[in-house]
Amino acid sequence: MKILMVCLGNICRSPMAEGILRTKAEQKGLAVEVDSCGTADYHVGENPDPRSVEKSKEHNIDISSLCGRQFSVEDFDYFDIILTMDSQNYRDIQKLARDEKDLQKVKLILDYLYPGEDKGVPDPYYGEDDGFEKVFQLLDQASEAFIRTHFNG
Ligand code: 4NP
Repeated sequence: MKILMVCLGNICRSPMAEGILRTKAEQKGLAVEVDSCGTADYHVGENPDPRSVEKSKEHNIDISSLCGRQFSVEDFDYFDIILTMDSQNYRDIQKLARDEKDLQKVKLILDYLYPGEDKGVPDPYYGEDDGFEKVFQLLDQASEAFIRTHFNG
């Protein structure tokens, strides 16, 4: 199963989501490929924000060498599920869908944890450092819920 994590800049939330889900899938021996990208091109070619790198490292996940990229419409062909971090990312990706099949691939990651509540992962970029721990915990729980839903794991 191929999963694409999407946020705005691809330096704070989605690289953490990528690292967390990849690590859990490896630990559980699940055949999951994970990548991440941004809806915007602001940080293309950059490594993740140092605060995301540090927070992930505290939890034994190394995301330091990931490299920012922007979503491309071809991602609809390659990935099975596209997990967006908030409702703005969700709308931005849905606008690029070419057909119903593309549309069906786009989901809010927190729907796995809080079904139907339209919750978003808060953007920690401009906030205090403790925002990154909150984001990590939300993504950790959402990744567990994702695995329970798709793999009974
Ligand atoms: P992200 O956070 O979408 O979680 O990567 C942001 C990173 C950069 C910006 C906004 C949000 N920015 O405006 O540059």
